[in-house]
Amino acid sequence: MACVISVASGKGGVGKSVISVNLALVMARKEKQVVLADLDVGGADAHVLVGLLNPPLTLTDFLNHRIERLDDLAQGLPIHPNLRIIPGTGDTLATANMAYSQKKRLIRNFRDIRADVIIIDIGAGTGYHALDFFLMADHHLAVATPDPTSVLDLYRFIKLAAIRRVLSMFVMRDVMAERLANRDYSSVEEVLDVAGKTDESGRSIAESTLKAFQPALILNRISGRARVNVPQLKKLLKEYVGGDLTLLGEIPEDPAMEQAVRAYIPVVQHTPSSPAAVALVKTGETLLQLLTALPAQAA
Ligand SMILES: Nc1ncnc2c1ncn2[C@@H]1O[C@H](COP(=O)(O)OP(=O)(O)OP(=O)(O)O)[C@@H](O)[C@H]1O
Ligand SMILES: [Mg+2]
Repeated sequence: MACVISVASGKGGVGKSVISVNLALVMARKEKQVVLADLDVGGADAHVLVGLLNPPLTLTDFLNHRIERLDDLAQGLPIHPNLRIIPGTGDTLATANMAYSQKKRLIRNFRDIRADVIIIDIGAGTGYHALDFFLMADHHLAVATPDPTSVLDLYRFIKLAAIRRVLSMFVMRDVMAERLANRDYSSVEEVLDVAGKTDESGRSIAESTLKAFQPALILNRISGRARVNVPQLKKLLKEYVGGDLTLLGEIPEDPAMEQAVRAYIPVVQHTPSSPAAVALVKTGETLLQLLTALPAQAA
């Protein structure tokens, strides 16, 4: 079964899609069968970044039942024989507001895709779709730039993902599900309190679920002046969310990135010697090592 990796961010435009396509290509070159799935519902554009300007089939065909298996949507790409893409939805209101049952069918179907690695590019923000697609993966990558609003949005995203992960775990156990799930939470501590009051082992189960949630961070658009205080962010997350954040890679601000986007070719192929491409290759290799070292963390 494929290893599923999700790529998300709190704020839009921070580089999720360019990072997803480049990591997918790096892994394909390392002999992995890779599928890049664009689940940015309403803002799909990953296909453009790999030169597929008019995909013959998109996720909309799956949601409308014209195609029953996600694997049949995964289309080969000229840039590498080991890389296929599932292009995101066309722009319809119905797909942007995907029903719960459609989302369930989509998530279920992911497990039948023939691949070693599936990379999911997810829409920005903390909507339920983004959180659920993020959490369905075995490994979670979060992208941020040094922009303070991006870091704040990243913190918010990870906190809400952690809360949703704990809640869905309780719903799966079917214990205190309703009491827990039908409330609104603004902090992880609140969830832990309710979990603890409802069931004797509730709090410790919730705590260990949080501890096991260890998203990896990719910082993008780093420059001499623009950096992120990673130790402080880690401390905040540890204190208020519970899990550890690993820094997986840092991608520099680099004009080659934009040039590659304009050429519809991932930068690792377009300008392999550029600082961004070198950093992306390194990040992809670190990710591959992580996949073999760490147990899967699907929610
Ligand atoms: N390291 C970088 N250096 C320079 N420009 C970059 C870098 N990373 C991304 N960009 C620019 O930012 C643009 C937006 O990136 P991208 O589309 O991947 O963001 P996104 O997070 O997927 O956005 P959205 O939330 O809209 O899906 C790219 O087209 C590229 O021009
Ligand atoms: Mg994107």
